[in-house]
Amino acid sequence: MLSVPGEEFLFWKKKQLSKGGDHLSFAVLLDCIGGISSNDLNLISINPEGNLYLKKNLEFLESIWNEHLLKSCPIQYLCGITFWRDLKLKVTNKVLIPRPETELIVDIVFSIFRKKSEKLFFAELGTGSGAISIALTLAYPFSEGIATDIDQDALEIAFKNYVNSSKQSNLKFFCGNWWSPLESFKGKFDLAIANPPYIPQDTYEKLPKEVKNFEPKVALLGGEDGLKHIREIIQKAPLFLKEKGWLILENHFDQGEKVKQLLIKNKFTSIEIVKDLSGIGRFTIGRYK
Ligand SMILES: C[S@@+](CC[C@H](N)C(=O)[O-])C[C@H]1O[C@@H](n2cnc3c(N)ncnc32)[C@H](O)[C@@H]1O
Repeated sequence: MLSVPGEEFLFWKKKQLSKGGDHLSFAVLLDCIGGISSNDLNLISINPEGNLYLKKNLEFLESIWNEHLLKSCPIQYLCGITFWRDLKLKVTNKVLIPRPETELIVDIVFSIFRKKSEKLFFAELGTGSGAISIALTLAYPFSEGIATDIDQDALEIAFKNYVNSSKQSNLKFFCGNWWSPLESFKGKFDLAIANPPYIPQDTYEKLPKEVKNFEPKVALLGGEDGLKHIREIIQKAPLFLKEKGWLILENHFDQGEKVKQLLIKNKFTSIEIVKDLSGIGRFTIGRYK
């Protein structure tokens, strides 16, 4: 551990933020690489006469911050870590950085399945870093989950995240196209969740460079109208869900109504468009008959 006087650190911090970037990204850098938690930061702001203990020196932290600003590379990829709900997850450019708005999917599941002792059998299609599935298996210790992805590299990261976050063995990882690795579980799932790629082609072309140049295209692009994958997932869901089983989908800000119509067409009931914290209809949920 390296000791730095509080005043020196605060001066350095101000200088870094004056170059650009946002406070949240800076906090990720300080926490993941510097070993400085938000608690440490608060304490040193209150008492700058104290010392701060760092895992890496300020020059090293500054070099990463400069790289982040210069290349627009997400700080999470440079640090190899992100925070999501109460999880600390490994991320590389093989997986999408799980977004704060997606955290709400777990709360939607909590509102449907209220007892944490429930023996849920769930599938998460397109798990990426594993965030959603890991959160669910931790919250429902008697559940069994299967997390799938088309990308084997992503699954390896998800598996590492699971091992780092949990002592249990109630989550399995299968590779393949949407439902296809789950052929032997037809009619068995209480719940299926997906945050599939849903960005329409023309929107994808205009994405900010920190997203388009660094995050995997396979995790973002949803075909011409953005609904290519959502359509496929909904059409096959009735084969895999139990009667009255739930499907929870994340969608683009303006797709809720279209996703609802797709669910109706495929005989889902109890359909609801759930808003995220910004009031956007971000999730569409339904029950198979
Ligand atoms: C938007 S990301 C979501 C990742 C993670 N679930 C999350 O919420 O952060 C979509 C994920 O779907 C995966 N994916 C894309 N096409 C797929 C397909 N045809 N079958 C299965 N998974 C796919 C991607 O590799 C990516 O990990």
